[in-house]
Amino acid sequence: MRNIAVIGTGYVGLVSGTCFSDIGNRVVCCDIDSMKIDMLKKGVVPIYEPGLEEVVQRNIKAGRLSFSTDIPVAIQEADIIYIAVGTPMTITGGADLRYVTSVAKTIGENMNGYKVIVNKSTVPVGTGRMVERLIREHLGDPSLEFDVVSNPEFLREGSALADCMNMERAVIGATSDRAAQIIAELHQPFNTEIMITDLESAEMIKYAANCFLATKISYINAIANICEQVGADVTEVAKGIGMDSRIGSRFLQAGIGYGGSCFPKDTHALVHLAESVGYDFKLLKSVIAANDAQKLVVVDKLMQVLGDLKGRTIAVLGLAFKPNTNDMRDAPSLQIVPALLRKEAQLRCYDPIAISEAKVHFGERVTYTSDVEECLLNADAALILTEWDQVKKLDLGKVKKLMAAPIIVDGRNCFPLRQVREAGFIYHSIGRPE
Ligand code: UGA
Repeated sequence: MRNIAVIGTGYVGLVSGTCFSDIGNRVVCCDIDSMKIDMLKKGVVPIYEPGLEEVVQRNIKAGRLSFSTDIPVAIQEADIIYIAVGTPMTITGGADLRYVTSVAKTIGENMNGYKVIVNKSTVPVGTGRMVERLIREHLGDPSLEFDVVSNPEFLREGSALADCMNMERAVIGATSDRAAQIIAELHQPFNTEIMITDLESAEMIKYAANCFLATKISYINAIANICEQVGADVTEVAKGIGMDSRIGSRFLQAGIGYGGSCFPKDTHALVHLAESVGYDFKLLKSVIAANDAQKLVVVDKLMQVLGDLKGRTIAVLGLAFKPNTNDMRDAPSLQIVPALLRKEAQLRCYDPIAISEAKVHFGERVTYTSDVEECLLNADAALILTEWDQVKKLDLGKVKKLMAAPIIVDGRNCFPLRQVREAGFIYHSIGRPE
């Protein structure tokens, strides 16, 4: 059993802290946001993540998981300190490290014995060394020993708990064998493959992984756009290329581009990092440009079918950047909805859980409903932006009766072509024959 302090109770910090407590460690999750900490103390989870609240409550009850705003005390009592604060994007596309910097200083000021400081936030290569330097500069007693480790997180929103408990690998970038062993042991109960490497490589692995996945998505989206012109079906193409184990079948779902809090931020950050060392990362710049353009292909498709969108009622199905989350950060809908409003379409938007988040962006310019059938009622066309189960499971016969016209533009390829054709729809999807 280890005493762990997790600083930063956002997505990554809360999920990892909860999982570390669930495997038997004593964990205190800290944040400067006292409202958030008060909620968590009561077992109320402020983010939408399936199953998380139950595990949080179970571990609070077992006395393994607690929450605090007193970061200095948490640091003093811990032997492992996880830094899991946000690294938002700066205006130039780099990562804003002000929270990491401030936590590093606080750690230095409160060191009282050997501790391992682990960075879980996604940070540019070199940040671990900077954290090490800052801690050293702020040590009350310069003889105190510590080690800095990079242990990047690979969990996905919407399946974070399962991803963490069944992690495919743990990457541990360490400056000493002692620290590497401590963090490797901590991961033993997860029964996962452990890779021990140096600090810089671990930091690079996180960016390289996310940017590779983003590249895979932009690649299949580009193939989809060509498929449409040559009469091929991108879902068949993805299946065929994915059978090659060197390519792999996952992350080849063509659609309206990647969004969320990670891929957009991390692709820009890697371009920025490359630039800072004199490398022009043209490939990744193209991935970003392709993704930006892909978000708007559904607007063109709608105009192809409906002509002028002025005054037409469009049922927008899904606003969150992907299913099982209410996260709207960099969601394709943030580009698509305003583009449709500029064309003076009337938008009725459906999302099962992201409506209050969407209201922050779209205000009163659209109407909202969490009832998918209500959204479709008398609509001139449906536009699918998120592949929610509630959308995929729609009874198309019923949908046809609800709508004013049987027109679906599907940005997520939710339905088999035969099914929509048999139901009598005019159906435009991504990279599949029309
Ligand atoms: C992503 C990574 O998958 C995680 O491994 C990583 O830990 C996380 O970022 C992070 O850096 O914290 P996440 O952003 O939660 O996780 O979501 P994903 O499931 O990866 O989806 C990202 C975007 O790609 C979504 O907009 C999704 O719709 C899109 N996508 C994904 C596609 O368009 N096609 C696909 O085949 C897969």
